[in-house]
Amino acid sequence: MTTVRLNASQSVSIETDALIVGIHASPEGPRTAPGADGLDQAFDGRLAEILTTVGFAGKAEEIAKIPTLGALPAPVVIAVGLGAAPEGDYELETLRRAAGAAARTLAGTASAVLALPAATAEQAEAVATGGLLGAYGFSKYRTNGDKKAPVGELVVTSAAAGAEEALQRATTVAGVVGLVRDLVNTPPSDLWPGKFAEIAQEVGGEAGLSVDVLDDSELREHGYGGIVGVGQGSVNPPRLVRLGYRHPDATRTIAFVGKGITFDSGGLSLKPAASMDWMKSDMGGAAAVLGALLAVSRLGVAVNAVGYLCLAENMPSGSAQRPSDVLHTYSGKTVEVLDTDAEGRLVLVDGIARAAEDSPDLIVDVATLTGAQIVALGWRTAGVMSNDDALREEVVEIAGGLGESAWGMPLPEELRKGLDSPVADIANLQPERWGSMLAAGIFLREFVPDGIRWAHVDMAGPAFNKGEPHGYTPKGGTGAITRTLIGIAERYAGN
Ligand code: BES
Ligand code: MN
Ligand code: ZN
Repeated sequence: MTTVRLNASQSVSIETDALIVGIHASPEGPRTAPGADGLDQAFDGRLAEILTTVGFAGKAEEIAKIPTLGALPAPVVIAVGLGAAPEGDYELETLRRAAGAAARTLAGTASAVLALPAATAEQAEAVATGGLLGAYGFSKYRTNGDKKAPVGELVVTSAAAGAEEALQRATTVAGVVGLVRDLVNTPPSDLWPGKFAEIAQEVGGEAGLSVDVLDDSELREHGYGGIVGVGQGSVNPPRLVRLGYRHPDATRTIAFVGKGITFDSGGLSLKPAASMDWMKSDMGGAAAVLGALLAVSRLGVAVNAVGYLCLAENMPSGSAQRPSDVLHTYSGKTVEVLDTDAEGRLVLVDGIARAAEDSPDLIVDVATLTGAQIVALGWRTAGVMSNDDALREEVVEIAGGLGESAWGMPLPEELRKGLDSPVADIANLQPERWGSMLAAGIFLREFVPDGIRWAHVDMAGPAFNKGEPHGYTPKGGTGAITRTLIGIAERYAGN
């Protein structure tokens, strides 16, 4: 795994494999950003001319590799675009993305210097976080020449007070996001509910979390009808994992609940093949919750936190639940399963009802819940719904500040009647397609006890990047919303 190190001295004099510098676009041509002092002199004042010659303008995330031919200790300068120079402070996300875009070009090298703007500890953290997240690779299953190790070490140049701590934070956060991505990318043949629970037990234990796992028979015994119903069609039985973290100075308790469908075939309401090949990512919510709890513990955030991983494999078989089956959920409410592919909400409501027993100040659930989220908001923007307007806006704001795009969505009252069931308390599907991200949110809300603030994050699109890499986001598992959950924990820390 890639490490980061701080260097307070002049970046251009460091022996390294690549010197990464930020370049602004301007009407007069490319301009070197702060952090790369002395670079232009090393090129006899002709850096802008060189960049212009190779067609580099300094647009956000644009990359150019310039050989130094002995002008610097580094054999190559990697110019990364930062867009127009800001009027005031840098947007942290601009720095994260630039560092990430540059780091993505480094696979197979030993070291690189990130000589990007890092005048404050926050900026140094953004550069380090973006660099580490961009350096991520997943090559565990490759045996051929495509197996390139991520860059060994990134050196961040900053003289800011607190930069050392900032880099430590970045390392912790990028480390857990890397784990979340690994889990999402792992094929379902190697990650089933029991295996996921074992991993949670192992890494959670190491991080000082309490980890309690309910297996199949315990889930049945205690009435977790939602998780059992979804999991009963698979030879790999379901699990519910509870992660616990306590801090002596905490005044609040927060609860996270993650959808952990290790593979979603749709069940008997089988998905078409084209929608199925990436459904290994349907456990991204649970992975984000695990990652967040690990980070909260490693960072020593002054909050009490619990995390629930609702783990099941949704498969068709002779033992699978049938459309029209009625489940007795942990909350006591009954659900008519009209469509076994609307399984996420079934496992989540058991997790939400269980989390409510911890008397948390808020519950946030995270799920790759609906294709309708992608229709409404696209691949990169998660939908946030809540029974509390202020909490919804708070989650959207925290996510946005961390570069995790999210947008508030309503829970329109009139959608509730579409979930009426002729036989049970509620049905898991509304008959019409329209607004089904919101209908899923309305369904979940029915299981949140009165007086508990709850928010729901639907990240069906953002959890998995089917397109090309961008910024610090690789192809495949993205680790989306993990940093938002950490941000929420920090917001609720102390008094
Ligand atoms: N896991 C899917 C949602 C999903 C779709 C996630 C695409 C990521 C990308 C979920 O379990 C599902 O199948 N949802 C259905 C619900 C429908 C049957 C009400 C959907 O959105 O089509
Ligand atoms: Mn489904
Ligand atoms: Zn699903």
